[in-house]
Amino acid sequence: MIRSIAIDGPAGAGKSTIAKKIAKQKGFIYVDTGAMYRAMGLYYMNKGVSPEDTEKIEGLINDIDVSISYENGEQVVSLNGENVNSKIRTPEVGSMASEVSTNGAVRKKMVSLQQQLAKTRSVVMDGRDIGTVVLPDAMVKIFLTASVDIRTKRRFDELKEKGIECDFEKLKKEIEDRDYRDIHRDNSPLKKADDAVEVDTSELNVDEVVKKILDIAESKGL
Ligand code: DC
Repeated sequence: MIRSIAIDGPAGAGKSTIAKKIAKQKGFIYVDTGAMYRAMGLYYMNKGVSPEDTEKIEGLINDIDVSISYENGEQVVSLNGENVNSKIRTPEVGSMASEVSTNGAVRKKMVSLQQQLAKTRSVVMDGRDIGTVVLPDAMVKIFLTASVDIRTKRRFDELKEKGIECDFEKLKKEIEDRDYRDIHRDNSPLKKADDAVEVDTSELNVDEVVKKILDIAESKGL
């Protein structure tokens, strides 16, 4: 039987770290939907398209092929056949992804790809609209949160580890702007599904969050 776990929440709440571990424990595949929007963002950025230029964004949409594959258990995101994993993690690409993801045509394309993936394999999928739009029938829905300062600190450390230097206050502002856009957009805004369980990760370490979610999954028969 194909099963799914949906994990939604704002930037830096710990979604991908946690989702990866849950997927490993359960033997499911991990689908990072943010990476797919980032690949779209990267395409438009490289083409010099302004995020306000709806006509251009929609006009180019059929030229973009985003696909997901797995290498040694790691998700590989390809943009028109090129592995873009190493190019999509910068704050600039994150902001562009947040901007172009407000476009209905972009979302339609990504949601259909994500639903297709979840039809073939059991998944742990993370994003902003997984429990509400992409997988409304997911057996387990989690809404991960943490304070903005903690989320900024986590992103800051993550980027530093990758050798990407940035200014803490600038990063915090970028995260706040992204939160605002993700929450207030008309198309599938970031929001907790009615049947999702909220988990605040501010005071918990990774293992504690994983355990909490595995317990929730078990209580739901998964
Ligand atoms: O999770 P992330 O930071 O990699 O996501 C980048 C942006 O993509 C995020 O700011 C909003 C958008 N996104 C979305 O709109 N829906 C999703 N399911 C996942 C991400």
